[in-house]
Amino acid sequence: VSDPTAIYLDHNATAPLLPEVLDVMARALAQAWANPSSIHGPGRKARSAVETARAQVAGLIGGDADEIVFTSGGTESNHLAIRGLARSGQRPRRPGLLSSPLEHPSVLGALQSLTEEGFAQRWLEVEASGRLAVQDLEARLGSDTGLVSLALVNHELGNLYPIADLARRARAAGALVHCDAVQALGRLPLDVAALGVDALSMSAHKIGGPKGVGAVWVKRGIEPASQLTGGHQEHERRAGTENVPGIVGFGEACKLAGRGLADRIERIARLRDRLEEKLLAIPGSRLHGDAAGRAPGVSNVGFSGAPGQLVTIGLDLEGVAVATGAACSSGTVAPSPVLLALGLAPDEAREAVRFSLGPGNDEQQIDRAAALVEAVVARVRAAA
Ligand SMILES: Cc1ncc(COP(=O)(O)O)c(C=O)c1O
Repeated sequence: VSDPTAIYLDHNATAPLLPEVLDVMARALAQAWANPSSIHGPGRKARSAVETARAQVAGLIGGDADEIVFTSGGTESNHLAIRGLARSGQRPRRPGLLSSPLEHPSVLGALQSLTEEGFAQRWLEVEASGRLAVQDLEARLGSDTGLVSLALVNHELGNLYPIADLARRARAAGALVHCDAVQALGRLPLDVAALGVDALSMSAHKIGGPKGVGAVWVKRGIEPASQLTGGHQEHERRAGTENVPGIVGFGEACKLAGRGLADRIERIARLRDRLEEKLLAIPGSRLHGDAAGRAPGVSNVGFSGAPGQLVTIGLDLEGVAVATGAACSSGTVAPSPVLLALGLAPDEAREAVRFSLGPGNDEQQIDRAAALVEAVVARVRAAA
C-alpha cells in the first residue's frame, strides 16, 4: 500500500507483497532463471532455490519437504487435492463426497466437476453462525464416503473449524480428508500431523507472497491423481516447469510468517476486537459468523439499510479498502452464497461488509476506519 493515508482491511482477498519477498524474487528472476529440471550448473542453481523454498513451506506447517507439491495457487491446489484424492485409486472406489456449502468457490467447483463424473455429493448442515455440527458429520458419513473436504478458516466469516476432530471421525469411517487452509496459513499455528488430514491447500498471496503460486501438502503414502500431466515435475504429481521466482517468494513468505506468529496473532486479534466493538456500536449493525470461534483478523458486519457495495465504494473514496463477501464475486450484485447458507435473506446478505486485518494495521488506522465506516453508513442510509 503506497499511499500512507490508505487503510488496507482486505487481507482475506490478498495481502500486500512483503518487501523481503520482493527482494528474493528479484534475485531469483535474475539469477535462478534456468530450468530446474536441467542437469547443468544453472539448472542446479534453480533447483536448489526451489528445494530451499519447499523446505520453508513444509516448515511452516510441520510437514516434510517431499510432501509439498507446488501449484499455481489455492485454486489449483484445491483441484489437485480434491479431484486427485477422489480419483487416486488407492482406496476401493467410494463415490461419496462430503463438504459444506460455505466452502470457497474453487472447492465447490472441484466438487461439482466430480459430481458431473458420477460422484455423489452430500452437504453438512450449517448453523446460523456458520458453525458445523460434529454430530451432523457422523450422521452424514456413509460407508460410500470417499472424501471429506472442509476449510480450516472460512474466507468470508473467519470462522475456524474443528478440523482435527472432524478429520478423526471422517478417517475412522474410511474417508480421505482434504483441508483448504488458504485462509489459515501464516495466520494461525498449523501442524498437519495434529490436524490429521491427508492433504492441505495453501496459497502464497494471502501471506505476503506473490500471486499465482501455492502448494498442496500431501501426506506421505497418499498419491493424488495428477491433474496436469505430461512433464515429470513435482515427482509426477504436477507437470509444468516450476514458477521459480514465485516459489522462492512463497518460501520466503512462509519463513517470515513463522517468525513472531503468536505475537502477531494476539496483536491482530486485539485490533479486530477494537474495530468490531466500534462497528457494533453503530445502530442497526450486526455481526455475521461465529463470534466464539473465529480466526483473529476477520469481522463480517452488516449495516441495515446500507447496501454493502455502496458502503465499500464510499469507504474506498475515503481510502479504506474493505470487501463485500468473496473478492472473486465482487462486480456482481449477487448476494454472498456463504451468507445465504447461514439463512440470511438476500437483502440482508447484500448489506454485509468484510473487514480483514493484517500485520500492517495499527490502532490509529482502526480508529480512523471505524469513524469513516460510521460516517459512510450514515451517508448511504440517508441517500437510500
Ligand atoms: C479459502 C480459499 N481457498 C482458496 C482460495 C483460492 O486461492 P488463489 O487465489 O490462490 O487461487 C482462496 C482465495 O480467495 C480462499 O480464500
